[in-house]
Amino acid sequence: MTTANNSGDKIYIFDTTLRDGEQSAGIAFTMDEKVEIARQLAKLNVDIIEAGFPATSPGDREAISAIAREVKGPVIAGLARAVMADIDHAYEAVRGAESPRIHVFLSSSDIHLAQQLRKNREDVIEMARAAVAHAKKYVSDVEFSPMDATRSDREFLHQIVQAAIEEGATTVNIPDTVGYAIPHEFEDLIRSIAENVPNIDRARISVHCQNDLGMATANSLAGILGGARQVEGTINGIGERAGNAALEEVVMAIHTRPDFMHVRTDVNTREFYAASQLVERYSGMTLQPHKAIVGKNAFRHSSGIHQDGILKMRETYEIMDPRVIGIPEGNSIVLTKVSGSHAVKSRLADLGVEPTDAEFKRIFDAFKDVADAKDEVDDRDLMAILAEQTQISVQDAWTLDLVQVSSSDHGAPTASVRLVDSEGQPRMDAAIGTGPVDAIYRAINRALGLENELIEFSVKSVTEGIDAQGEVTIRIRTDGGIYQGRASDTDILVAAGRAYVHAVNRSIAAAQRAEAVSSR
Ligand code: KIV
Repeated sequence: MTTANNSGDKIYIFDTTLRDGEQSAGIAFTMDEKVEIARQLAKLNVDIIEAGFPATSPGDREAISAIAREVKGPVIAGLARAVMADIDHAYEAVRGAESPRIHVFLSSSDIHLAQQLRKNREDVIEMARAAVAHAKKYVSDVEFSPMDATRSDREFLHQIVQAAIEEGATTVNIPDTVGYAIPHEFEDLIRSIAENVPNIDRARISVHCQNDLGMATANSLAGILGGARQVEGTINGIGERAGNAALEEVVMAIHTRPDFMHVRTDVNTREFYAASQLVERYSGMTLQPHKAIVGKNAFRHSSGIHQDGILKMRETYEIMDPRVIGIPEGNSIVLTKVSGSHAVKSRLADLGVEPTDAEFKRIFDAFKDVADAKDEVDDRDLMAILAEQTQISVQDAWTLDLVQVSSSDHGAPTASVRLVDSEGQPRMDAAIGTGPVDAIYRAINRALGLENELIEFSVKSVTEGIDAQGEVTIRIRTDGGIYQGRASDTDILVAAGRAYVHAVNRSIAAAQRAEAVSSR
């Protein structure tokens, strides 16, 4: 059950999608993409956006400055090593922000000190002091992170945190840099800082957990229980190696379990889905279907027992309301071989079909045969079963006979289409759009005199290589119903056009079936 959570201490949400997230192998956001993601993060109402690591490149600096100038609301942070030139760059990049922050990091574990920094503990404490003091000359909001904190000697960790606060750090972040911590141990570590660092009341404790052992979300929550009041993470959990804590998971856990966590966030959770889609698209990191909160299957039910429960009362098998995450309403019941009669009947009803008991028995038996041979029985399969088992048969109303697109980096994409009806009568039209797919869909709508809302569009490669088949899946909303269309072709624009006509045919067929049933 999704429960509104307005009580308890506030947890500050620090998003590092654009910094640690971009550190994932294979991700390089363009400047425009970074600004767009930052705007979406502002809509999500995160408290801090770590916009990048300014010393790494002039391009990063430019993008951070653009975000600092243009994105209002959250604090804008820039990362810096404990090196004066890095801190200068960080200040230059974030200085235009409404609320700028400099985030300084320096290793604290013995292994990093010996192998990487080649310095002793005393020198490292002095470096931390000098770096924080230097950042403090520029901004009042300074965060300090002792890198590899979870493998550092506890007493030394307490000392370095204390020194950073003495120099003016207002947030002390405890990173599990290599994803090594176990939740109980991490909670205890954070509590030890809260209880043993004498000046800790002058700073907020933050946690930053990597996911190498799959425990980033669990460790972040354990950190909160230990006393942390800021959590760092990324959208979809992207980041170095196995990634960072996924913010949608941490925030939804806080939101869903206020009875246990006793804290709150100011995040506008309804923007999570849009943020996730945007980051998936620009990062090229495709989400696994079972990804918690935002994966395609996160709110889809396949087993008969679960479907029966969901159809009776959603809360029987859903602990969150997908609308609270901003997931567009769709069909959450997936028909597979483990589905029961209740779900099949309900899907038929959605399609406007109410068979008699005798008809339904035949339909359900045929459904089980098809489901044995396929992963998922979709509406098209159901229509075929229906046509076979009853007198209600509906032919495809339209076939896409030709699609031609002209598109360039200047000027609006234009599409012309020719469709033919079941008697071979053609209809042609053309349209311009914001992109080639939009142009095709507008041309089809003009040719058929339709208005549909496209609510989902996805493309995946179903074979490999330069001649790969692209499979396009779409969903449209029309006349109160949601219809899926799917098609594949080596040309994804052709596949996109056919998938759209497929969905349109289904909506027409559903209307015809409803009419046929009501006139029986
Ligand atoms: O993982 C890590 O230690 C970091 C710090 C810079 C916070 O990313």
